[in-house]
Amino acid sequence: AGPQEFAARVVGWQKTHGRRGLPWQDTRDPYRVWLSEIMLQQTQVATVLDYFPRFLRRFPDVKALAGASLDDVLALWSGLGYYSRARNLHRCAVAVVTQHGGEFPPSAQQLQTLPGIGRSTAGAIAAFCFGERVAILDGNVKRVLTRVLGFGADLAVATNERALWDQATALLPRHSLAQAMPRYTQGLMDLGATICLARNPGCLICPLRELCAAQQQGEPENYPVKTRK
Ligand code: ADE
Repeated sequence: AGPQEFAARVVGWQKTHGRRGLPWQDTRDPYRVWLSEIMLQQTQVATVLDYFPRFLRRFPDVKALAGASLDDVLALWSGLGYYSRARNLHRCAVAVVTQHGGEFPPSAQQLQTLPGIGRSTAGAIAAFCFGERVAILDGNVKRVLTRVLGFGADLAVATNERALWDQATALLPRHSLAQAMPRYTQGLMDLGATICLARNPGCLICPLRELCAAQQQGEPENYPVKTRK
């Protein structure tokens, strides 16, 4: 398998088998993508499908959100849980308006400096909205990559987690395929959510089967390794 085989398979699979038609997928508006990524961090897609349009009707853009009171934001968030997300959401909107002229900055590096936006969320927004060649590494994607790579080091150790980020970066589509960054990023998320499950992964129908170390070892559920610390 060539160096682009992994990326090409993820992209090709997403086109035919990935999730589609979700309201935050057919936009490159950073406000919408950011809002959906924050909601999806700890909440299932079905629930977000209920909250996302309502939130957008009330706060149609980042200026509307920044100008609202925290109480109004929390009221609309009610039921989604993890309320620190809503507080950071409001703080982030205020920062975008006061420090960035009302536009989300167009790189993962800068996005990561904003409240509530970690490295993976910054990567997702930059890849989806700006096509930046940058990795994501949320829980689902960690499962996919540790299995494909046979990456058995303990992710509770910070240096190991950094090494996995480096591997995720090395697997990104090369520049000739770089326009595929939104689809590649969505494909990794979708593989983790629908095929590469924590228990009973669907290796028989996985597009990465022939490339996957864990599958060849016959024990995909051994990955990822993460001890509690
Ligand atoms: N979970 C996190 N981001 C997502 C996205 N863009 N689509 C579906 N599920 C997700």
